[in-house]
Amino acid sequence: MTDKKINILAVESSCDETACAIVADGRQVLSSSVATQIDIHERFGGVVPELASRAHIEAVNTVIAQAISEANVGPDDISAVAVTHEPGLIGSLLVGLMAAKTVAWVWGKPLIAINHIYAHAYAAALNDKPVEYPAVALICSGGHTALYHCESPTEMELMGSTIDDAAGEAFDKVASILGLGFPGGPAIDKLAQTADPKAVRFPRSLLKGQSLDFSFSGLKTAVLYHVNGVPGAKDQVPRGLESFSPQQIADIAASFQAAVIDVLRIKLKRAAAQIGAKTLILGGGVSANSGLRTAAAELAEELGCHMRMPELRFCMDNAAMIGGLGYHYFKAGKFAGLDLEALATVRR
Ligand code: KG4
Ligand code: ZN
Repeated sequence: MTDKKINILAVESSCDETACAIVADGRQVLSSSVATQIDIHERFGGVVPELASRAHIEAVNTVIAQAISEANVGPDDISAVAVTHEPGLIGSLLVGLMAAKTVAWVWGKPLIAINHIYAHAYAAALNDKPVEYPAVALICSGGHTALYHCESPTEMELMGSTIDDAAGEAFDKVASILGLGFPGGPAIDKLAQTADPKAVRFPRSLLKGQSLDFSFSGLKTAVLYHVNGVPGAKDQVPRGLESFSPQQIADIAASFQAAVIDVLRIKLKRAAAQIGAKTLILGGGVSANSGLRTAAAELAEELGCHMRMPELRFCMDNAAMIGGLGYHYFKAGKFAGLDLEALATVRR
């Protein structure tokens, strides 16, 4: 007789994606439904929290219904409900949390609290084999850039993080400077493939010593000054985006991306050496970047480590990673009460 599968229904709403998924035994994704809000926030060049909360309210019932119907499951097939409760935009988190609590209460299922960042580090295991630990996870998204020492899917220790902008935020802001639209990561990634990454030598920050922290705001300013000139500097040639050809703009995008990847690769290597990592893990929206994926794979080969990165659809915010990680809390019997709170920042 085979054991009954543990199916977790998961809800994610921490930023600007409303998502629901059903995941079996922590890895098999039965359904993954995502409603993105890109068209709502595009004209503002970034996520507007109040608009995000309202859009989550409009989408949440539909994505839950879609995920249930796509997986072809009913209440009896679901073992527990997992939900992102930290970190994120508080108004956004509250919508998913209320929806998940309602499903858990009405169906009489246990509730599982999930940390969004830990879930990004788990995404690489979806529809694939388990990760070999110890591992170093590099999580790069619009809101976070951090390195974690992982001993299991649920045991994560922060090794370093950004002291200012997140990598994805830098991609988005630089894309805005270069007139490439929002979100900027995919646009820069595409342009960079046809351009010269050595055209402009942008700064690489915080490389001294053994620091595992990141800083991307200086790099963003360097791109701004390169395009518009340094404010107050004498004898400057008048500049502005119009003074650059499309190829020059692509070269700036490629040079910026090369600077980000260089720093990420160097710190990932340092972190892996510090803990004797068997595996390198990428996660978060920026892990969809083709240049970063190639650089990380080359690094893993150089270090003799396993390399794990999520399928492209699981790099960006999704609920499958919440349901996958939720399984491990289920197995450990770690459940939350219906009084579970939403937390904007991560508890250390
Ligand atoms: O993980 P995510 O969906 O949301 C947050 O938790 O923040 O990440 C979104 C971020 C955005 O900043 C977006 O520009 C970036 O991921 N991104 C990329 C790529 N695709 C998305 N950055 C670089 N290259 C990409 N291909
Ligand atoms: Zn995320």
